[in-house]
Amino acid sequence: MLILGIETSCDETGIALYDSERGLRAHALHSQIEMHQEYGGVVPELASRDHVRRVLPLIRQVMRTAGARLEEIDAVAYTQGPGLAGALLVGTSVANALGFALGIPALGIHHLEGHLLSPLLASNPPQFPFVALLVSGGHTQLMRVAAVGQYELLGETVDDAAGEAFDKTANLLGLGYPGGPALAQLAGQGRAGRYKLPRPMLEQMHRTGNLDFSFSGLKTAVLLLVRKEAPDAAGKSDVAASFQEAIVDVLTAKSMYALEQTGLTQLVVAGGVGANRRLRERLDRAAAERGCRVFYPEYEFCTDNGAMIALAGALRLGAGLVGAKLAVGASLLANASATPDYAFSVKPRWDLSTMA
Ligand code: KG4
Ligand code: ZN
Repeated sequence: MLILGIETSCDETGIALYDSERGLRAHALHSQIEMHQEYGGVVPELASRDHVRRVLPLIRQVMRTAGARLEEIDAVAYTQGPGLAGALLVGTSVANALGFALGIPALGIHHLEGHLLSPLLASNPPQFPFVALLVSGGHTQLMRVAAVGQYELLGETVDDAAGEAFDKTANLLGLGYPGGPALAQLAGQGRAGRYKLPRPMLEQMHRTGNLDFSFSGLKTAVLLLVRKEAPDAAGKSDVAASFQEAIVDVLTAKSMYALEQTGLTQLVVAGGVGANRRLRERLDRAAAERGCRVFYPEYEFCTDNGAMIALAGALRLGAGLVGAKLAVGASLLANASATPDYAFSVKPRWDLSTMA
């Protein structure tokens, strides 16, 4: 089965063609980072307009690279939420228009489901069940994943997401947008032991087993530290290293505790912060000490992309997660969010644990 994936939830237009027998056939990505850089963050209206410009040429490019024709596609999977409403609408309307024109289902996919299934794109994928650590710009969650569509929330952030904390702290240190990769690079040159920063909600986890996260206090601690010390260039890299170590400490400890609590031995890490090398080092070491294993998506599939959306669509179809049957293209099954008349809506806010 051939699935076209369309991702336009934020500042990347991602398109991919996934073959449920042969794997990923082709994918392409356009990042808007440069466009948003001068504003210090994503400008939603600019993001939507850019998706409009990019989405059709990227689809043509992917089809050309794969040597496939649109008529051969069996379903279109698109990010329906969560994300920026205007940006989501671009991919959603293109997907439903294509579905209608070709007489095939258009499947609305949860963006985080895409992220958490993305390690399954690797050549040596994890097996269900596993624990997933989702660490992106908008989310920080630990989930127990029993199967496609079966997600139990174990813990989540009560304030800032891990990526958001990286981005805001990078901003404090005068680094550009997006801050995460820049801060991680600076941290690589610094001494993590130089400054003592809080490990929010870690002590509470040991006391009560709570797996929630909180990162806004850590960001404030960095703000106060920078105000007090007014660090020079070397001092800034020490602040960056100390901050990164604090976040990595918390993410590692909670992930290990989640493995212990669930009795599972596989941890899947997904979302942009999963690209962080220090986090990978620490998770790998801690897991190995417990006889557990950590799975990561390929680096290019850590951040937003179309491949994870196409894959999630293929897995949902394969798992028979069926809702309404389509009037057109009725030979195929559609998921719960597909409608017979291709009417569509987006879900800028959408709780992953509410879906089956
Ligand atoms: O998953 P993603 O591409 O987009 C969302 O769905 O949010 O994640 C983007 C986030 C940003 O906050 C970015 O700063 C962070 O991931 N990020 C990193 C690294 N690479 C990306 N954070 C820390 N270290 C990195 N190497
Ligand atoms: Zn994402």
